Amino acid sequence: MIALARSDRVKDFMQRNERMKGLARRFVAGGDAEAAITVACHRLAEGIRTSFFYLGEYVDRPELVRENVEQKLHIARLLETQEMDVHISVDPTQIGLQTDRSEVAARALAIGRAIMTASAGKPGLHCLMLDMEDASVVDFTLALHDELRRLELPGAITLQAYLRRSEGDLARLIASGAKVRLVKGAFVGKRDIAFTNEVEIKANYRRLVGMMLAPEARASGFYPIIATHDDRIQAEAVALAREQGWPQGSYEFEMLLGVRSDVAQGLARQGERVRLYVPFGRDWWPYAVRRIGENPANGILLARSLFSAKAKQPAIP
Ligand code: FDA
Repeated sequence: MIALARSDRVKDFMQRNERMKGLARRFVAGGDAEAAITVACHRLAEGIRTSFFYLGEYVDRPELVRENVEQKLHIARLLETQEMDVHISVDPTQIGLQTDRSEVAARALAIGRAIMTASAGKPGLHCLMLDMEDASVVDFTLALHDELRRLELPGAITLQAYLRRSEGDLARLIASGAKVRLVKGAFVGKRDIAFTNEVEIKANYRRLVGMMLAPEARASGFYPIIATHDDRIQAEAVALAREQGWPQGSYEFEMLLGVRSDVAQGLARQGERVRLYVPFGRDWWPYAVRRIGENPANGILLARSLFSAKAKQPAIP
């Protein structure tokens, strides 16, 4: 699926395919920031918050890097007039890690400042959330996060349970009172650096959730973001949070738009703080195909979308 996601030929073909656009609508809010804000307003009515993500990863053309940065700044400006969290996700490879590495920090800082301006005086968890990409960029991403925080900009970071190093990274981030989103990881790594089977990854995820909800984490002002669709792990986290004295709203769950929406709504109804990762933009294929690959049932949807005689209403230009 990652190979399919990275093939330009496949991407060009799929992004022109009306049936695929129909399928992607489930996972992608639309082609522009306005469409993403509309989706976010609907979710907010259900008590669910949003993390906005302008699509386009592993970008190796300067003009696309410029577009990505402009889109992140654009949505931050639009959020100035919205009563919602200004929470924007950014991949370092979107903003120049593969084109001009030395400019990435300046771009991230500009987005961080735009988030600060847009969120001034508003309650909520406002942040530039750094997504975590493959293992080769973890050090860079951690350093970028440290720099944002050093400058007192609202930075947060994603850690991946599939990586063995995440336990050490998390311990350091907990001690510094950071905001960390924990995911299992959408990549595979060699055994020396990574857990390579589902059982080990899940066990490590649980171990890391335990660290995130420990009393020391609460004492340091750490903010845990538990990003999984695994309802068993979510239920364990809720129980642990109660046991350790974390009030609802002092931690949160994050899930992806279009994935197990019933579970997200159920958590929100229980009073848990829930956020949806809401992607938007025209470069949607690499993202959508990864979501499709995460569940065999989605494979059936993919086949139906490709072969069904009736094209669905496209939402993505
Ligand atoms: P897991 O795969 O264990 O599944 C749990 C349950 O959810 C199963 O029943 C499964 O069928 C269902 N499910 C999971 N995905 C589904 C789908 N697409 N469609 C339908 N059902 C599905 N990764 C990364 O490497 N770097 C990052 O920065 C991020 N960022 C990120 C943000 C957020 C908010 C989330 C939720 C996830 C990420 N990820 C990520 C992706 C993450 O690493 C992981 O690949 C997916 O979340 C799948 O793992 P889970 O723990 O959610 O569920």
